[in-house]
Amino acid sequence: MENESIGYEIHLKKRPIGPVKLDHFGLVKTDIPQLKEEGDFLVRNIWMSVDPFLRIYMASGTKHAAAFELNKPLTGGCIGEVIESKSSKFKVGDYVKANFGWRKYWIGKDMDSVENSISKIDSTIAPLRSFLGLLGITGMTAYVGLFKICNLKEGQDAVFVSSAAGGVGSVACQLAKIKGCFVVGSCGSDEKARWLVDKLGIDHAFNYRKIGQYNISEELKRVFPNGIDLYFDNVGGKHLEAAIDNMNTFGRVALCGTTSQYNDDGNASYNNQNKKVTKSNSDGPSNLSLAVSHRLKLQGFIWSDHFDILNEFNANMSQWISEDRIRLQETIFEGLENAPKAFVSLFNGKTVGRTLVKID
Ligand SMILES: NC(=O)c1ccc[n+]([C@@H]2O[C@H](COP(=O)([O-])OP(=O)(O)OC[C@H]3O[C@@H](n4cnc5c(N)ncnc54)[C@H](OP(=O)(O)O)[C@@H]3O)[C@@H](O)[C@H]2O)c1
Repeated sequence: MENESIGYEIHLKKRPIGPVKLDHFGLVKTDIPQLKEEGDFLVRNIWMSVDPFLRIYMASGTKHAAAFELNKPLTGGCIGEVIESKSSKFKVGDYVKANFGWRKYWIGKDMDSVENSISKIDSTIAPLRSFLGLLGITGMTAYVGLFKICNLKEGQDAVFVSSAAGGVGSVACQLAKIKGCFVVGSCGSDEKARWLVDKLGIDHAFNYRKIGQYNISEELKRVFPNGIDLYFDNVGGKHLEAAIDNMNTFGRVALCGTTSQYNDDGNASYNNQNKKVTKSNSDGPSNLSLAVSHRLKLQGFIWSDHFDILNEFNANMSQWISEDRIRLQETIFEGLENAPKAFVSLFNGKTVGRTLVKID
């Protein structure tokens, strides 16, 4: 895929039912889009992220956002360089962050730069890809979940993080350790568990695939003899149920994601008329009555609702990065054509930390 005069895109070719596979995607050649009017600018993508929640929109969408269209490019986080411009705001050579991943080129417009979350980034602050990682959605999500949703208590909380070796999870683990908490993570291999303890410095990690999802509760009982104060939930399902079993009274749960259920097609089934069309058959928590008796707070959140703390986040995160107190492991796939492989890999445990695709 070397031809610079062709604008490649990754399209959704068919809707996944069950595990997402490579043949759900297709690489499509297109013309490079042309600037049409004042305010237009052409961007060549350099990086894109793959994010597990996109699986929901590949199948059926949610109440709040429609499913991806078939035979159209997917969308997702990206960083690119402006290479042609009729805009007074975005000049040739500017680097921008937006939601137009899964393609090589795209046209931005001044007028909808806010709506489409197109923003300029300063490449002198940090490597470009950091703006999809520690200084972007990954870092911000971990920060919001711990500090804003769960009001982490410095030096006091016993914290459990699922998908702890993933992007958001590994940052959440490190932030909780910076604040002097006892931190335990779950992950899908012994190697990841060793990495979490030896390299990220958390107190304990276990391989949930080895112990089996029905034994997570027993494992948590063993490693949290005094109970869990804060659970950062990236995966939902049996992990959430096991954590609820072991939460202390007035415990807090940040409901960040449900990766264990994204491949479950009953999970998010709203049609384009906003009607629920199928029921969930997910392995969700069956013990919510404990949330009442233990006065738990379980709160879902979306990182982008919390831009009020963006300055605080940027200042703290930049400082911890400069002091080498926080790092983000990356799994990088080379070439846009490998974006489907990167996405599928999110669900089979083959990625560590943040998963990115280097497009150019
Ligand atoms: N609320 C928000 O604003 C927000 C923002 C960003 C992301 N999120 C959500 O936060 C979660 C983490 O995001 P991320 O981008 O950092 O992804 P991630 O955790 O890096 O996702 C990939 C990892 O998920 C784990 N995984 C895959 N299938 C699993 C299963 N069945 N059960 C348990 N773990 C499984 C795998 O690790 P193992 O090998 O350890 O299984 C894999 O490496 C996702 O659910 C995402 O949708 C939410």
